[in-house]
Amino acid sequence: MHELTGPVWLIWLETSALAIAMRQWLWLYPIVEILHIVGFVILVGAAFMFDLRLLGLSRHVPVTDLERHLLRWARLSLWLVIPSGLMMFVAHATEMAANPAFRLKLILIVAAGLNAFIFHKGIFKSVKTWNREVETPWAAKLAGILSLILWTGVISCGRLLAYL
Ligand code: HEM
Repeated sequence: MHELTGPVWLIWLETSALAIAMRQWLWLYPIVEILHIVGFVILVGAAFMFDLRLLGLSRHVPVTDLERHLLRWARLSLWLVIPSGLMMFVAHATEMAANPAFRLKLILIVAAGLNAFIFHKGIFKSVKTWNREVETPWAAKLAGILSLILWTGVISCGRLLAYL
């Protein structure tokens, strides 16, 4: 194994029993990565479908019904995405932490979360007035566009991790 350089806590993570298992057990890493992919397909897929409704598509479908159905699965999918992501991170902690795509990915994930939080605490409070068959307000459209851009960025950074 190459000489590990970096903060002590990252070296501690990368030399942990979990990290060694993730690197040495033939099928563990691929299975964890598959769970990561299944998780973010549900998360980002649900977000995208909700965002397209915010942009005014499928106006016959009440926004509240979509929110109740899609965003529940998006939240539940985090139980797959985050633990699997952390397990893959631990396996190569010093390298990943230094990878610009990983750092940008975490920033974009926080920004996407913040965008969703501001949407729910803000314009979504008035959803009853634009729930069905009417133009969605610009603030809802903006939240939808930002979400589409941010989650596309997260996925792009995730894929680029292997190249940088
Ligand atoms: C929350 C939304 C997230 C999305 C949408 C996401 C998306 C992705 C994508 C698209 C990949 C590339 C998969 C591939 O090409 O096979 C990936 C890989 C990875 N993700 Fe995530 N991820 C998320 C969260 C996280 C978190 C929270 C962490 C860890 C703290 C993480 C750590 C990783 C690592 C380490 C890899 C690299 C796997 C490899 O190339 O070997 N991800 N992620």
